[in-house]
Amino acid sequence: VRVELARAGELHLAMQPIGHYVGRGPDVERGRAFERILPAERVHVIREDGQIVGSAGAYPLALTVPGAAGVPTAGIVGVGVLPTHRRRGILRALMRAQLDAIHERGEPLAYLWASEDVIYGRYGYGIASFSGQIEIDRAHADFAPFERRGRLRLLEKDEALAAFPPLYERVAAGTPGMFARTAAWWEVRILADPEYRRRGGGEHARVLYEVDGKAEGYAVYRLHFNVDTGIPEGHVQVVEAVGATAGAVRELWRYLLDIDWMARLKAELLPLDHPLFFLLQEPRRLEFRVRDGTWLRLVDVGAALSSRGYATDGEIVLDVHDDFCPWNEGRWRLADGKAGRTDAQPDLNLSVTALGSAYLGGFTFAELARAGRVEEQRPGGLDRADALFRSDRLPWCPEIF
Ligand SMILES: CC(C)(COP(=O)(O)OP(=O)(O)OC[C@H]1O[C@@H](n2cnc3c(N)ncnc32)[C@H](O)[C@@H]1OP(=O)(O)O)[C@@H](O)C(=O)NCCC(=O)NCCS
Repeated sequence: VRVELARAGELHLAMQPIGHYVGRGPDVERGRAFERILPAERVHVIREDGQIVGSAGAYPLALTVPGAAGVPTAGIVGVGVLPTHRRRGILRALMRAQLDAIHERGEPLAYLWASEDVIYGRYGYGIASFSGQIEIDRAHADFAPFERRGRLRLLEKDEALAAFPPLYERVAAGTPGMFARTAAWWEVRILADPEYRRRGGGEHARVLYEVDGKAEGYAVYRLHFNVDTGIPEGHVQVVEAVGATAGAVRELWRYLLDIDWMARLKAELLPLDHPLFFLLQEPRRLEFRVRDGTWLRLVDVGAALSSRGYATDGEIVLDVHDDFCPWNEGRWRLADGKAGRTDAQPDLNLSVTALGSAYLGGFTFAELARAGRVEEQRPGGLDRADALFRSDRLPWCPEIF
């Protein structure tokens, strides 16, 4: 199989392999909009008789990692192989070409949401965060008492395009797992509201939270209105709720859970350290369910380790195994926040996959060691590594890209 780059203007065709699975045919206009956030030269394709049968894209992202923002990262998107061509190595060829290209570009990380959890481990991606979803009955959604402040205001889309991004950026810059969004990203993804994304719900509603005239948070949601013999059966579907202060988070969720005429509230993509557990009188009623969230791959181990901040001054030597990207193989010494090659005795022996799980601070080396994913080679190695990599917040990515 020969892997090529997509041509400008053909994104609607390049995305067809994944489009097939979600039941949508090529759409020139959607392809053109998509190209504003995914340049054609970042999409690898495989053709047969002129038809694209497999493809894989990479958004250029600037990711927040513990102690640093703006780390160049490939956001993997639109990976698909037509069902007529599966299990012939097309995915493997795409992953090979894509990771080589990311490496050449100098992006130290690759980041994704996996459609199926079985797919990406073999290419060196490890689970980097958990993601939770809730479904709560409004009758059991009382908050522990708190004094209400500020005011809420519904916005038109144009107003939201101006008001929401600075709030998001404030939060994203300090939250591992979030990334900067361009204006095009807001227009094409977050505030776009095409019929096929509504799943029976209403149009987007956009609310801004302000204190003394200063914006502190926002939420995008839709109402799925439904009544049966006059009794409310509908639900609020939260698309995204972001508060730049603890007060804003509290007020926004209070608002979302207070909307009359709705029976329930549903939300997805929440971090496991979400304050709702401590805000509600009956947190059990959240019916919080957990799944794997984002997956991360260190494409260049040295550059990736040197890109994040560390919680202590210690040093550590990691013996890293990486079959798929052998340029990462070997011993890496991390000291003073910089990583370099070394011959020193390793503290830990681990695969690049396990390092991907620990990198954003979502999982500890001790936790991975208990699963046999990390081996301690020197006494205290796990403790030293966990002290270095510790992060105050769990990684959070509020959107599936
Ligand atoms: C997932 C998908 C891309 C796999 O493509 P493919 O060309 O069949 O994969 P390959 O032939 O290169 O297989 C590579 C390996 O992964 C395994 N594999 C890939 N996808 C798998 C799946 N969904 N379930 C189980 N095993 C899978 C293959 O068995 C093979 O294993 P091997 O190397 O031990 O032989 C394809 O099935 C697809 O497009 N699925 C729907 C869309 C999707 O899930 N995309 C991912 C978006 S995040």
